[in-house]
Amino acid sequence: MPIKTAPVALITGASSGIGLAAANLFVERGWRVAATMRNTTDGAALAEHEQVVVLPLDVTDTASVERAVAATLEHFGRIDAVINNAGYGLFGPFETATDEQVRRQFATNVDGTFSVIRAVLPSMRKQGSGTIVNVASLGGLMTLPFFSLYHATKFAVVGFTESLSFELAPLGIRAKFVAPGVVATDFSGRSLARTFSDGEHAYGGTLPKVMSAMDMRRGNYSSAESIAEIIFTAATDGSDQVMYLAGQDAEQIFVLRQTLSEAQRLEMVRQHSGL
Ligand SMILES: NC(=O)c1ccc[n+]([C@@H]2O[C@H](COP(=O)([O-])OP(=O)(O)OC[C@H]3O[C@@H](n4cnc5c(N)ncnc54)[C@H](OP(=O)(O)O)[C@@H]3O)[C@@H](O)[C@H]2O)c1
Repeated sequence: MPIKTAPVALITGASSGIGLAAANLFVERGWRVAATMRNTTDGAALAEHEQVVVLPLDVTDTASVERAVAATLEHFGRIDAVINNAGYGLFGPFETATDEQVRRQFATNVDGTFSVIRAVLPSMRKQGSGTIVNVASLGGLMTLPFFSLYHATKFAVVGFTESLSFELAPLGIRAKFVAPGVVATDFSGRSLARTFSDGEHAYGGTLPKVMSAMDMRRGNYSSAESIAEIIFTAATDGSDQVMYLAGQDAEQIFVLRQTLSEAQRLEMVRQHSGL
């Protein structure tokens, strides 16, 4: 495909993990890519590709979102796919979360997605085409203890995306979400904020039980590259499918979620979480 006519993807949070893997994959498949990130020095390797522009974008800063979208349109002339990937987790008791932690979690995972979509829609509407892929989570379809605020954001993204898909389809624009299970990225390290301090184990010993169950499950992860493949499929398959489960764990757990009674499902989560 000649580079000048190749389709264009704008990706948020392209500095690491799933966003970086997606940027590399879209480039490999011949797309032009606006790889956006908070700190553009993290994009030095991506910037070496002729068909990549690395742009600053903090999803919590609407002006920076608008600037990045305008710069992408200026540079490439169009945007065919937007991958709303930027996000992080918040773990711990809901009760001990500060207002600021709650605000930031929603500002990043939910409002950030809204801002990017609002900024790209006018150009997609003019084109009469485009695909929006929101990176939600299996945690937007089912829950684990002590992730209530993260789940609240990802359930929001799932419901928002499905509703949006109906209203955009007549305009030729698709809205989809990808729901990964557990992925081997920095997510559980630098991208997992906590509502409690080290050594502060509240909730009658429940929190340490859940934490050690999480530790025991470490290692059974999908790769960021395999999730990027599913994002690419969602962006390019031309179908009306809205939900893309990503990873064997996501597929298996979702089937259980559909087939178990509520009592069985809640018991499964308790057992899985060491409760
Ligand atoms: N890993 C998993 O198990 C998993 C499972 C399901 C869903 N997800 C979702 O996948 C997405 C990517 O996470 P990941 O696993 O790839 O973790 P990651 O490697 O830590 O990547 C998170 C990305 O989000 C960016 N980001 C955070 N806040 C931002 C902001 N305000 N503006 C712009 N970018 C921001 C980070 O940028 P900086 O480099 O600037 O911090 C980083 O690029 C998230 O939405 C996450 O919820 C992950």
